[in-house]
Amino acid sequence: MLDTNLDVEKLKKLQFKIMKDVAASALIPLMRIGDQLGLFQKLSALGPITSKKFAEEAKVDERYLREWLYALSATDFVSYDGEKEEFSLSPEQKAVFADEEGPANMLGAYEVLAGQVYAEEKVLEAFKTGNGVAYENACPLCFTGTARFFKPSYQVNLIEKWLPMIDGFGEIMKSGGSFADVGCGHGLSTLMVAQAFPNASVAGFDIHGPSIEEAKKLADSAGMLDRIKYEIADSKSYEGKFDYIAFFDCLHDMGDPVGAAKYAYDHLNKGGAVILIEPTANDKPEENFNIFGQMYYSFSTMGCIPVSKSQEVGLALGAQAGPAKLIEVLEQAGFKDCKIVKKNATNMVLEARK
Ligand SMILES: C[S@@+](CC[C@H](N)C(=O)[O-])C[C@H]1O[C@@H](n2cnc3c(N)ncnc32)[C@H](O)[C@@H]1O
Repeated sequence: MLDTNLDVEKLKKLQFKIMKDVAASALIPLMRIGDQLGLFQKLSALGPITSKKFAEEAKVDERYLREWLYALSATDFVSYDGEKEEFSLSPEQKAVFADEEGPANMLGAYEVLAGQVYAEEKVLEAFKTGNGVAYENACPLCFTGTARFFKPSYQVNLIEKWLPMIDGFGEIMKSGGSFADVGCGHGLSTLMVAQAFPNASVAGFDIHGPSIEEAKKLADSAGMLDRIKYEIADSKSYEGKFDYIAFFDCLHDMGDPVGAAKYAYDHLNKGGAVILIEPTANDKPEENFNIFGQMYYSFSTMGCIPVSKSQEVGLALGAQAGPAKLIEVLEQAGFKDCKIVKKNATNMVLEARK
């Protein structure tokens, strides 16, 4: 029985919204299958093609492939010519799905999403106990997916748009400054900084051993391993003094962000600065109730909150902490003049001076 106070129009609107989200979520395993079989790159290279020829070229079963192609055509991720019964990728579809090294690729997002589905059991238990789930106990798809998902944005923004907003960054780094990337993960940002500033000394630290191993491998294949000091270290145990200490999309994951910021304060050279990149958020939760908030609060429930709660203090800032809370954390650590220096739809950059 439906509640008699229920507004049928509002109910229909809500049901339609759910259907849209269900349809989007239904694509997650399809996107993972297509990614792992290299179907996007193959379709991109083959051009307009029938499912039969595509299946032969891709060496997969035609019936499965055709259903997959219909699903992706229904959501406009693949283009379909009904008369010729041919499938293809438009230049935009190629950019987001087939150009792995390109600045618009978004396939990493599906890797993160799949990883989060695997996290369900552990996080469900954590809901009951209030305990955390350590980063190393997350599904490995979360580590690879995070690096892959962030890479295009770092490629476009980090060196060209974000770091130039930090007072004096370019001059100091060009003339041999020092930079530490704390919580560097696979070290893509660390590598970009080392490549952009050949005279600077660059270090990357992360609590997660396998991520540091991967960072070293990536630096090695870029011929940059001798330029970057990578070490397994948490945010309160790395050694050295630096002109800049960065926390790129990781301060909110840490159990003790105030402690991490205080430790950074003590490991900055005079006049140095901490640089934060955080997901864009407003201070009031209700101001984040939009598609970005939906995504970030969801990632945060499954990843950021469990990781933070697994560590000392367990503050669990969450991925939508907002500028006021982040600045409060930095000020508690002793920083002055903390401010947002850049903001776009997905990320904000904060600077805090010693
Ligand atoms: C979302 S990932 C971001 C990785 C990387 N900075 C990037 O932007 O791609 C968060 C990273 O923070 C690291 N991390 C979490 N807690 C940490 C801590 N207390 N000390 C050092 N690293 C930590 C994790 O291991 C993980 O690599």
